[in-house]
Amino acid sequence: MLTIITHPLVQHKLTRLRNRDAGMKEFRESLVEITTLMAYEIFRELPLAEVMVETPMEACTGRKLSRSTVVVPILRAGLGMVEGITRLIPDASVGHIGLYRDHDSLEPVQYYNRLPENLQEAVVILLDPMLATGGSASRAITRLKESGAGEIKLVCIVGAPEGVGKVEKDHPDVDIYMAALDRGLNDTGYILPGLGDAGDRLFGTT
Ligand code: PRP
Ligand code: URA
Repeated sequence: MLTIITHPLVQHKLTRLRNRDAGMKEFRESLVEITTLMAYEIFRELPLAEVMVETPMEACTGRKLSRSTVVVPILRAGLGMVEGITRLIPDASVGHIGLYRDHDSLEPVQYYNRLPENLQEAVVILLDPMLATGGSASRAITRLKESGAGEIKLVCIVGAPEGVGKVEKDHPDVDIYMAALDRGLNDTGYILPGLGDAGDRLFGTT
């Protein structure tokens, strides 16, 4: 299922990310902040377990997350979203999947894979700001499933209908969260209006 997060603070941060005049500092900070804000929606339905807690006054029943969280950024640009989740769930494990899009074919090329072992029982949050053709996200989800992941949530900032369609077709069991569903792709596979090349803007490369 696709969820577009329309909260005003999320939309405000998205506009800062889209702005071509935002420098690396503003881009980095806004990417972390928007991910944290989106996390409120993403974690809304996570199961809780009851636990006893001693307040300074007396014992009472509290609640805590009953499942572990694994965060998996797609390198490189997904790295810029990790802190947005780990500042809320500091004991989340972090796996890494390295993929880049071949410039001509737009097909994903995998160059790195390092995942924690507890994927099966965890809620896996896959991070990548851009969902363009959907090739990278779909490949990463396949890799996660091969490694035992059950529940996977894909969190992007901006997506194109083409990418959403591909992930929904290849992995109908995966929930997708985005701040905006944009118009489409240009001839070279960039999202319009999008926010440009997320990896380059995050790391100062061209
Ligand atoms: C970008 C982006 C996604 C991918 C999206 O990464 O971060 O991973 O493209 O495109 P797709 O949906 O068509 O697969 P890129 O390949 O530019 O690598 P980088 O993050 O290392 O710059
Ligand atoms: N990757 C990006 O970084 N931006 C796009 O618009 C498409 C793919």
